[in-house]
Amino acid sequence: ISSLAKYIKSTGCKNVVLMLGAGVSTSAGIPDFRSPETGLYSNLARLNLPHPEAVFEISFFRKQPVPFYTLAHELYPGKFRPTITHSFIRLLAEKSLLHTCFTQNIDTLERRAGVPDDKIIEAHGSFAGQRCIECKQPYDDEKMKEHIFSMKIAKCEHCGGYVKPDIVFFGEELPEKFIRAIPNLRSADLLIIMGTSLTVYPFASLAQRVDESCPRVLINLDHVGDIGSRADDIVLLGKCDDVVKDLCVELGWEDEL
Ligand code: OAD
Ligand code: ZN
Repeated sequence: ISSLAKYIKSTGCKNVVLMLGAGVSTSAGIPDFRSPETGLYSNLARLNLPHPEAVFEISFFRKQPVPFYTLAHELYPGKFRPTITHSFIRLLAEKSLLHTCFTQNIDTLERRAGVPDDKIIEAHGSFAGQRCIECKQPYDDEKMKEHIFSMKIAKCEHCGGYVKPDIVFFGEELPEKFIRAIPNLRSADLLIIMGTSLTVYPFASLAQRVDESCPRVLINLDHVGDIGSRADDIVLLGKCDDVVKDLCVELGWEDEL
């Protein structure tokens, strides 16, 4: 942690790129996906799925939208608060160190913490919009909210197809904005990966896109991907909030968290 703080202070790095996963929001009360026992995929028996990931598969949703709507009802943003880790990200932005925050999370807690919109790439989409899965016609925000809250399946007013929030499902393309931002990784002078198992592609491949000279930092409960294999990699095992708090003490930022 102290060598990371020293790197941030002494090199004056100004292009910090972040890669976030569900582990940054578990302390907000949102489960991650793959942690044994507590992860979402271990707790979906009530949805009677053929396999857990089916709830986020477009081919399954087309046949059976109810399981996803059940989950959407539980995970809908609004009741969860940003964590210390989200405050740290806001601080990076306030101090003009943040280049891009790539997130796989659909909880919008980065925005709620005050990270500017133009710094955030929601690689797996969000609940911010929705459309018909057949004719792609957008659907009204308020009506969608009403449907999710009352657990009714929203149907397209044009073709009758099911309506789905703009969350990227398995079998769907990632947003244009994500694809366009990939070349930015070349200008990163520090990559911090937090709370992700790095198992879902193409997101996980971002970690390979930074220059060899760019240190990669992993803050996670366990080792993931190949982080640790390069000479400049730093692996900080622990809870994001704890590691970030210690880092902020070293940086003299603890009062601003
Ligand atoms: P995962 O559940 O796969 O991984 C979360 C990682 O965070 C694991 O390595 C945990 O050990 C770690 N973790 C959990 N709590 C933590 C904490 N407090 N501090 C530090 N680490 C912690 O979640 P993601 O990698 O985000 O996609 O999953 C990627 C994608 O898979 C999701 O975006 C979602 C899912 O299917 C879609 O729905 C399209
Ligand atoms: Zn339609």
